[in-house]
Amino acid sequence: MSKKPVRVAVTGAAGQIGYALLFRIASGEMLGKDQPVILQLLEIPDEKAQNALKGVMMELEDCAFPLLAGMEAHSDPMTAFKDTDYALLVGARPRGPGMERADLLAANAQIFTVQGKALNAVASRNVKVLVVGNPANTNAYIAMKSAPDLPAKNFTAMLRLDHNRAASQIAAKTGKAVGSIKKLAVWGNHSPTMYADYRFATIDGAAVKDMINDQVWNKDVFLPTVGKRGAAIIAARGLSSAASAANAAIDHMRDWALGTNGEWVTMGIPSMGDYDIPKEVMYGFPVTCEGGEYKVVQGLEIDAFSRECMTKTLNELLEEQNGVKHLL
Ligand code: NAD
Ligand code: LMR
Repeated sequence: MSKKPVRVAVTGAAGQIGYALLFRIASGEMLGKDQPVILQLLEIPDEKAQNALKGVMMELEDCAFPLLAGMEAHSDPMTAFKDTDYALLVGARPRGPGMERADLLAANAQIFTVQGKALNAVASRNVKVLVVGNPANTNAYIAMKSAPDLPAKNFTAMLRLDHNRAASQIAAKTGKAVGSIKKLAVWGNHSPTMYADYRFATIDGAAVKDMINDQVWNKDVFLPTVGKRGAAIIAARGLSSAASAANAAIDHMRDWALGTNGEWVTMGIPSMGDYDIPKEVMYGFPVTCEGGEYKVVQGLEIDAFSRECMTKTLNELLEEQNGVKHLL
């Protein structure tokens, strides 16, 4: 017997990440090849955006995806999020060349307050929310704080792109297959302050840190390369990453919904106090997922260098939180 369709809301659906994301959701890459989906697509009311959304929907139709059980265009989050089981909050103002992420904070805080309230009012009580739009951690924090009737743990921010970027850099450095890298973690904010941590990582059971054994490379090459990868892509493309961001969103939601079989992945989640990160800060942690729930990997030793890095990215998040306090 076929499964009952689930409702998937995507905001910024006519944007560049939306274009790289929707077709993969509709083909079953996110929730499984046996899970029909109804897409509830949100764009700003602007005529050009709504027309572009119509065009994307025409293309979705033309793919004749067997799992696409329905599709709706919306300009109001109160209708777009009705009964939604999954919400991918992508729509935001993207960063252009030379623009700092902090500049985006104020512009985006407004959007995520409204959307958090709408989720609170009309979404499924079990909705799983992923915030992609930058600054992703703080936007997720705002949405969570604006939705007091939903479980805080259901709000997450995307650190998976950073996790995947870190894995690729390690693969290139060690000459090993990227898929063989396990137990990688990215702590903190989706920003250049993030701390990508391979101290626990293994490849075919062997420790990555012994294979690399070069703290100078870690500090001077690896961390800045991963941390500034988004800016490097903007400089090269003139646009922020889109296909890799959509891919990371698919990875994040798929693993959360369907499980990781004990493997670690990175998710931005409201801290429950683990590793001395203050409660509720939307922080990247290594997690495993099972039965639709994530669990923070416990018992990792935090050395002095790691603590310094984790505190730096935490302080940036606290500053961002402080900057939006008056809006909550
Ligand atoms: P884009 O400009 O191509 O598309 C954004 C779309 O969102 C536009 O179509 C716009 O009309 C729409 N939009 C704006 N405000 C909206 C609202 N209130 N409700 C609904 N839709 C709205 O941008 P993009 O390249 O798709 O990027 C989207 C966001 O994702 C940006 O904030 C970008 O910085 C961020 N991003 C995050 C990561 C990450 O790893 N977390 C990676 C890449 C990009
Ligand atoms: C990325 O990491 O690629 C993006 O978050 C960059 C950006 O600021 O849009």
